[in-house]
Formats: sequence, structure tokens, C-alpha cells
Amino acid sequence: MTKEIYSTSSAETLKIGAGFGEKATPGTVLCLDGDLGAGKTVFTKGFAQGLGSQALVTSPTYTLMHIYEDGRLPLYHFDVYRIDDEDEMEEIGFSEYLRGDGVTIIEWSTLIAGLIPEDAIRITITRDPSKGPDCRKITVEC
Ligand SMILES: Nc1ncnc2c1ncn2[C@@H]1O[C@H](COP(=O)(O)OP(=O)(O)OP(=O)(O)O)[C@@H](O)[C@H]1O
Ligand SMILES: [Mg+2]
Repeated sequence: MTKEIYSTSSAETLKIGAGFGEKATPGTVLCLDGDLGAGKTVFTKGFAQGLGSQALVTSPTYTLMHIYEDGRLPLYHFDVYRIDDEDEMEEIGFSEYLRGDGVTIIEWSTLIAGLIPEDAIRITITRDPSKGPDCRKITVEC
């Protein structure tokens, strides 16, 4: 199933992300793709809020992952933009997080396509310049 959601501001993307966080179940894997600055981290911030987390979600670009454990479910937030190869993910225990009871979000998931489970929810955020700088199309495949 594919669904398209339109956002006109980063506040709206936060709210959309929160909606996914509220509904998330243990073991959910969510891929977030889209260009630099598309809004993947904004969406994840909202998602964390939807889980009830008070944490200040920041981009884990340099550390590959952050864990937020103060919400309804643990959130494992990966950003694999700087990954060299998939082995690096094994070294940080990626597959154990996937198997866990938390929720895994992966920014730039296409860079580790071979490690993404079949049943992951795939979200792509795209800009539409004809609609203005703050407009985003959020395509959800699940
Ligand atoms: N509708 C929108 N949804 C999300 N972000 C928006 C929107 N409109 C403007 N923005 C702005 O775009 C930027 C999105 O940044 P964000 O860090 O979430 O992108 P990203 O996709 O995670 O980028 P990166 O690939 O660098 O991790 C923010 O500065 C945000 O305020
Ligand atoms: Mg980001």
C-alpha cells in the first residue's frame, strides 16, 4: 500500500511523525529516505514525541545512531549517510536492534539496502519546488 501525505511546514512534518510514533508497535522498522535537508530528522523528532519521549532528538550523522529510551518504546535512530559498507552496521549491532522490542528508524536506508527487513515501512520525503520551499511530499509504502 502506498500513501502520500503533504506537509507545508516543519511543524506539520513533526505532527505527521508523531502520528506514526503514537501507532508504532514493538519491532517496527521505518526507513526514511530523501535528499539532504528533506526533513527526515524532523520527522524522527515528531516520531519520538509521539512515543512520549521528551528527548532532544538530534541527527546521529557522525555517530551512526542514537538511542532514546524514555518513551513508550525504545527508539533506535540510525543515520547511515556516512557508512562505508554494510559490515560497519554489523559491528554496531544493527541486527540485534532490529530483533529487539524497540522501534528502529534508519535515515538514508538505501545505503544499506541489503540489511533492511522485507516488512519495513518505507517513507520517502521529497520537495516540490513548484509548491514552495517548505512543502514536502511524504510517501509511505507499507
Ligand atoms: N515541510 C517541512 N518538513 C520538514 N522540514 C522542513 C519543512 N519545511 C522546511 N523544513 C526545514 O527543512 C530542514 C529539514 O532538516 P532535517 O535535518 O530534518 O533534514 P534531513 O532529511 O534529516 O537531512 P539529512 O539528510 O542532512 O539528515 C529543517 O531545517 C526544517 O526546518
Ligand atoms: Mg537527518
